[in-house]
Amino acid sequence: MDKKDLAVNIAGVVLKNPVITASGTFGSGKEYSKFVNLNELGGITVKGVSHEPWTGNPPPRVAETYGGMLNSVGLQNPGAAAFIAEDLPFLRQYDTKVIVNLCGHSLDEYIAVAQDFSGVSGVDLFELNISCPNIEKGGMSFGTDPATAEKVTAAVKPYLKAPLIVKLSPNVTDIVAIAKAVEAGGADGVSLINTLVGTKIDIYSRKPVLANVFGGLSGPAIKPVAVRMVYQVYKNVKIPIIGMGGIMTGEDAIEFIMAGATAVAVGTANFINPTATTEIIAEIADFMQSQNIKNINEMRGVV
Ligand code: FUM
Repeated sequence: MDKKDLAVNIAGVVLKNPVITASGTFGSGKEYSKFVNLNELGGITVKGVSHEPWTGNPPPRVAETYGGMLNSVGLQNPGAAAFIAEDLPFLRQYDTKVIVNLCGHSLDEYIAVAQDFSGVSGVDLFELNISCPNIEKGGMSFGTDPATAEKVTAAVKPYLKAPLIVKLSPNVTDIVAIAKAVEAGGADGVSLINTLVGTKIDIYSRKPVLANVFGGLSGPAIKPVAVRMVYQVYKNVKIPIIGMGGIMTGEDAIEFIMAGATAVAVGTANFINPTATTEIIAEIADFMQSQNIKNINEMRGVV
């Protein structure tokens, strides 16, 4: 198969294949570059970046669950200035698309981090994180109300030179309403789903396992919810979708594409198998060959 047949277009940005790393599961690529040829990836979405450095939540921050994991990292990151000085130049050595996930505690902080990037080149796409469930202010609180989601999208958009993807929370009654709202606010695409809020109790200590009590559930346990939401959103918005939630194999990725995703992001799988992303790219190509599918875009939304 010609490698070109795996290429996808997100808001005018061409990715050599549809496989991206999910924010928060791949750092800024440096650690994984020892195991994965980053040139092979469609894109790398980095851990959330805020205007100022954030220390995140106290430990324990992660817990294993059936078919997945809970995390309550709290978007720990070194801040935009350090990211721009150190991580972005590292990533730009590779032939892959760089997607910067932006986070904030308030509308002003979202605007401030967007302004930090307004004169910066080398970012291919931005992903607005209005769906993190692990911070007290900001994050998910912006992504669970259509009016607020639209407002923050419209507020950051003028500062960004690259297309804006908005990352949606599944912790809502109607994901379509939020997707339509961010589309109205000027989003060039949506990514979904972020994690589902959960908790785990240590029955011997009678305490929550996570210091933050609640965390975000990810991994294969959430995949059917994620595929359902991608399917619903695809039928109701015109902008492209990056689908994610428990993708472990090429077949999982193809489910998302057939539900309507243009690209897919691999998250929790990276913790179990650092080379999951490149294996998934090969598995997608194998499936297409076995099914006589000439171009990946033929599969999008066929369900
Ligand atoms: O807690 C965290 O850092 C998670 C981030 C997210 O879900 O976006």
